[in-house]
Amino acid sequence: MIIFVSFLHHVLMNLYSSEIQKRRTFAIVSHPDAGKTTLTEKLLLFGGAIHVAGAVKSNKIRKTAASDWMEIEKQRGISVATSVMAFDYADHKINILDTPGHQDFAEDTFRTLTAVDSVIIVIDAAKGVEAQTRKLMEVCRMRKTPVIVFVNKMDRDGKDPFDLLDEVEEELHIKVRPLSWPIDMGQRFKGVYNIYEKKLDLYTPSKQYVTESVEFRDINNPELENHIGNALSEKLRADIQLIEGVYPAFDTDTYLKGDIAPVFFGSALNNFGVKELLDCFIQIAPSPLPVQAVERTVHPEEDGFTGFIFKIHANMDPNHRSCIAFVKICSGRFERNANYKHVRFGKMMRFGSPTAFMAQRKETVDEAFAGDIIGLPDTGNFKIGDTLTAGEELHFKGLPSFSPEMFKYIENADPMKSKQLAKGIEQLMDEGVAQLFVNKFNGRKIIGTVGQLQFEVIQYRLLHEYGAQCKWDNLSLYKACWIESDNAAMLDNFKKRKAQYMAADKEGRDVYLADSAYVLTMAQHDFPDIRFHFTSEF
Ligand code: G4P
Repeated sequence: MIIFVSFLHHVLMNLYSSEIQKRRTFAIVSHPDAGKTTLTEKLLLFGGAIHVAGAVKSNKIRKTAASDWMEIEKQRGISVATSVMAFDYADHKINILDTPGHQDFAEDTFRTLTAVDSVIIVIDAAKGVEAQTRKLMEVCRMRKTPVIVFVNKMDRDGKDPFDLLDEVEEELHIKVRPLSWPIDMGQRFKGVYNIYEKKLDLYTPSKQYVTESVEFRDINNPELENHIGNALSEKLRADIQLIEGVYPAFDTDTYLKGDIAPVFFGSALNNFGVKELLDCFIQIAPSPLPVQAVERTVHPEEDGFTGFIFKIHANMDPNHRSCIAFVKICSGRFERNANYKHVRFGKMMRFGSPTAFMAQRKETVDEAFAGDIIGLPDTGNFKIGDTLTAGEELHFKGLPSFSPEMFKYIENADPMKSKQLAKGIEQLMDEGVAQLFVNKFNGRKIIGTVGQLQFEVIQYRLLHEYGAQCKWDNLSLYKACWIESDNAAMLDNFKKRKAQYMAADKEGRDVYLADSAYVLTMAQHDFPDIRFHFTSEF
């Protein structure tokens, strides 16, 4: 009997392990308009998850809608369906986590990045590295997330590819290694040389696929001229020689450590260079990685289920306050109707209708494995960062909060509804809609956001979901910094001197609210033993 049980266990473990090895959970990120939605859609086409182009509703909040934020909420509704897009491709299970395009919801994107094992960054060949890309890459660097760069829109005239690579290295602070190389661009774009697979992939405008893919192990083969002519052959050979001379040979381990980013060129709209990207991606991108908890490192192949909530999406129906909590499974196998521990509450819970997200459908699942994302219907039990386990007392490390960019005092506009307001603020903050600080000097509540839109969304949701009315008082601040020091006397002195600017975040940690860059620099200079952090994870 014992032998049989141990045999069964062994078989099951092998099954888990092969399920986990198959998974690739990643996010595509970009500055708005670089082509994230288009690329996502083409990947889904390859996976057979959709059959026609244009089927993916953009999760992007259109600029024209910026003032009409009812429309924005509607669009956020759409993004539930497209929050996770799973499909099978070449014996792999791909989970793409979508991120909001609008920069006012950047915090959502940062949190989503904590649930992925790798990232594809899309860059517009004409625009190069843009503001949002820089910020997103900072998060990847902090977490050492492996990154692949896709330079998009090669069918348009753009920057010189070598200049682009320099720009990526300088601006994103990461070494790069091209794995494909464009042959001309814009109207003269001929295709790419696939360095990774040593193939020539030829492009014909208006044809939505690789028209010709020829193996070319030796780029010096005179056959090349027959395909792309003398001048371009000469240029390609010179470029490749330069690449081999300047950039180190591609090494998967260095990529997996987050130290080097392979670069691909193509045109998502024309579905060119996308399959090459996907084929290389499934080979080199990591399957679910170990995740650090406060107590220990959790390995995906472990027996017991563990996971954490990285996103909570409110329901659109104001009469029915229900949400979906998104769980990233870090280890083991999740089963429907099994009992799992909600660690913060210290109690066991059962989930009868967990959902998985297959392309655009949401469906109930019976099981899911490490690397997968499942949605749990929630009525206010979860906070971002909560851990679920099979029973173990485990806490996955916090998700970083970044210093907000905009601040306002929030005040009660209806004295009869102060309880509702307090509850609404608390729940919206747990959902991660914005950050709350309480000024220690005057006790006033401050809401910090990354964009004006969030204030409007909060006001609307407080009214419609909690029946509470709020008003905003302007507050001009530069940054919120989490402070700490080993020098207790200096910390104490600082807090006294800056009493009016000291606040507590929702965990009660000390936060200094600097009202200008100058004042912050002076404070850093005058109090050298104090560490000023611009993210809450340090
Ligand atoms: P985003 O999610 O990163 O914000 O970008 P999205 O995919 O929505 O693409 C932004 C615009 O760029 C779209 O045009 C899209 O068609 C275009 N685009 C994407 N990839 C390529 C490419 O490889 N070449 C060229 N020439 N254009 C590309 P739009 O006019 O803003 O939107 P739509 O009306 O076409 O949807």
